[in-house]
Amino acid sequence: MKITKVAVIGAGSMGRGIAQVSAQAGYQVALYDMNREALKQAFANIENMLGKAIERKKITEQQKADTLKRILTPASLKEACEDAQLIVEAVFENLEIKKKMFSELDSLASDNAILATNTSSLPITAIAAATKKPSRVIGIHFMNPVPLMKGVEVIPGLATSPDVTNAAMQFVESLGKIPAKAVDYPGFIASRILDVMLNEAVYAVMDGNDPADVDKAMKVCLNFPMGPLELIDLAGLDILLNVMETMQKELGDKYKPAPLLTKMVRAGYLGRKTGRGFFEYK
Ligand SMILES: NC(=O)c1ccc[n+]([C@@H]2O[C@H](COP(=O)([O-])OP(=O)(O)OC[C@H]3O[C@@H](n4cnc5c(N)ncnc54)[C@H](O)[C@@H]3O)[C@@H](O)[C@H]2O)c1
Repeated sequence: MKITKVAVIGAGSMGRGIAQVSAQAGYQVALYDMNREALKQAFANIENMLGKAIERKKITEQQKADTLKRILTPASLKEACEDAQLIVEAVFENLEIKKKMFSELDSLASDNAILATNTSSLPITAIAAATKKPSRVIGIHFMNPVPLMKGVEVIPGLATSPDVTNAAMQFVESLGKIPAKAVDYPGFIASRILDVMLNEAVYAVMDGNDPADVDKAMKVCLNFPMGPLELIDLAGLDILLNVMETMQKELGDKYKPAPLLTKMVRAGYLGRKTGRGFFEYK
């Protein structure tokens, strides 16, 4: 089945990026969020990102205008799903919320539509089991920030059909990105390995290291393009905590979140999006 319309559900940090790159690749996009304010912010953010791409001479004014024209922001989930051949869910990282969402999507989507989740860590097989047709459910795990990151993990669940997996891999390639297939195990490949390191960076702060020194050491000694704490601030401390908790539950205490991470999330220090994480943002 040819994909022409992509519905993106959830217009937070990830949903807005997925909507942008899909529209840039020529797809019609319906971006939906239960929070109209988030949707407005998402649209402004996409405009801003495209503006920066013009400054870097990556796209033209005309391409920006065409991309924005392809993104609609319907008022209901039903309208967003109508005629979409691919639906990508990017709502909160919570299994119950995602299962409820997939059961709704299952009834709203057309029969052959592919239902994808952008979850960082939750089991695709469990999300798929909330639908009547788990063969059409798959994980398409974009990296943050979506417009800049090349790699995307594609994670079939236990019941996902090979056709759906192939279509998802082709969709990722059509965005100019590179798909990497991963087995449906908590954290898949990239998050599982990276997040243990990020959690360890939080322990280093607990041990008394200055956050700036932790980031500096990783950048100058190991050639990291960005410090781990800066990266946690970008992704969201709540997001890392959610992933660590899921992995701890499923894989054991090796993945126990650092107590400081839990404490900072409780304080509302979620990183860039709240203006404060390991660093402060104006
Ligand atoms: N932030 C990252 O670095 C990152 C990277 C890869 C994957 N992910 C995954 O992507 C997903 C989204 O993460 P995010 O960082 O964009 O989150 P976010 O909190 O920035 O955005 C989530 C959006 O979903 C909306 N939403 C929540 N429930 C909804 C519902 N029932 N219907 C419609 N909209 C709803 C919220 O209003 C919010 O705007 C999560 O599963 C997360 O684990 C995040």
